[in-house]
Amino acid sequence: MFIPDISGRPGPKFQALADALAEAIESNELKANSKLPPQRILSYRLGVTVSTITRAYQELERRGLTEPKVGSGTYVKDREAEQQSFYNPITTRSGIDLAVCRPLLLSQQHHLSTALQELSLEPVAQKAVLDYYSADGLQGHNQILQQWLSKKMRSEIDNRRLLWTYGGQHSLTTIVQALTRPSDTILVEGLTYAEFIRTCQHSERKLVPVRMDDQGIDPDDLELHCKRHKPRLLYLTPAIQNPTGIQLNDSRRLKVIEICRRYKIMIIEDDVLYCPPENRITPIVAIAPDITFYVGSFSKYFAGGLRVGYIVMPLHLKNTMEKALRASCMNISPLMTDLVCRWLRNGAMEAVDNEIAMELKARHRLFNQYFHQPNPATVPGFNCWLKLPEPLTGYSFSKQLSDKGVVVREAEMFTVGRYPAPAAIRISLTGPSSRNELKTGLEIIKNEIQRSS
Ligand SMILES: Cc1ncc(COP(=O)(O)O)c(C=O)c1O
Repeated sequence: MFIPDISGRPGPKFQALADALAEAIESNELKANSKLPPQRILSYRLGVTVSTITRAYQELERRGLTEPKVGSGTYVKDREAEQQSFYNPITTRSGIDLAVCRPLLLSQQHHLSTALQELSLEPVAQKAVLDYYSADGLQGHNQILQQWLSKKMRSEIDNRRLLWTYGGQHSLTTIVQALTRPSDTILVEGLTYAEFIRTCQHSERKLVPVRMDDQGIDPDDLELHCKRHKPRLLYLTPAIQNPTGIQLNDSRRLKVIEICRRYKIMIIEDDVLYCPPENRITPIVAIAPDITFYVGSFSKYFAGGLRVGYIVMPLHLKNTMEKALRASCMNISPLMTDLVCRWLRNGAMEAVDNEIAMELKARHRLFNQYFHQPNPATVPGFNCWLKLPEPLTGYSFSKQLSDKGVVVREAEMFTVGRYPAPAAIRISLTGPSSRNELKTGLEIIKNEIQRSS
């Protein structure tokens, strides 16, 4: 039984006892869920009255360190479990999650803790991040983003072309709001990022799907739709297509740019999805900066919860974009952009990028043990696109998998309008937190395919 030593402690006895017990709890000498000594025994062993013990126990309860259990005594609270449940998501998904495309959590928590400690010692920064600003934000943040992007894109970027946002999704809705009106037409790849489809449906923009083949968007079909629909925008995920993982080759990129110029169409180049370092190529915005909105984000390169992204835009549309940004959120939280800038400056972002690349390679090796990726135009990112044998469809197979406790995304979720959905599913290799869980999920998929075809 734990008997605290209260000799030599100043102040009233109940206080001294409460302090001694609190220290033992904080240092884990008294562990979570352990029972405090019965009051009578402690009163006898310490030579104090039972009411002193009662007051000390009440004081510990007031400090949130213990809890009484009726008829059983007083116990040390399990504060970690309590905190854990506080941070539980309201909506949880059961089963092995091969649906959500998230970055793996590696050293990000450590970098967050370090950056917050740094910030806690910098009064100038604290004051700055608590204020309101115009939509273009803070000078230092803009400069850091400009330098980092110029290096990443291997071309000098004018810092006036940059705008911070609350992530890729916010960038997309802001661009759509700024550049189009209800019933305007936007061209998209026949299979595309599902939330972009929802954004356009929600704001009553008309989406027209462009045909895709094994190399990505088909330029001839693009031209046909440009003639027929007089669209305002083309939305593309050229570096790593969502959901298929295809990277658009140079010749197709150049054709797409040429067609968009000829028909006076602006391009939204969505580069949010994680692309491994060896597969990174010059973005469309570096070739056609006057007609391209480049959408980047730290959601897949660091953490989805940050909600920080950015747009590189044609300079002449800066005012229009700033107005749209103000209309949606006034300005981006300088606290969040400050954290991101610290990681861009101190190398944390690069370190995490490398760590993700390593872990992702290991997960692809695992995937390749079960499935063959037949299309050489695909890039090994977070997602794998798996074509299904007859008679399976993406929709029915994803239901079948869900009954077996594995969640994936079916092709139907990504199809635009009446574009024919292929028999395929998208598997996120980074959904599960462990490789073991991923392995179990892949095994179940493999078995279910063999059983059903
Ligand atoms: C292609 C694509 N664009 C944009 C987004 C949204 O990014 P963010 O989380 O930064 O809002 C996603 C998210 O999965 C995505 O896959």
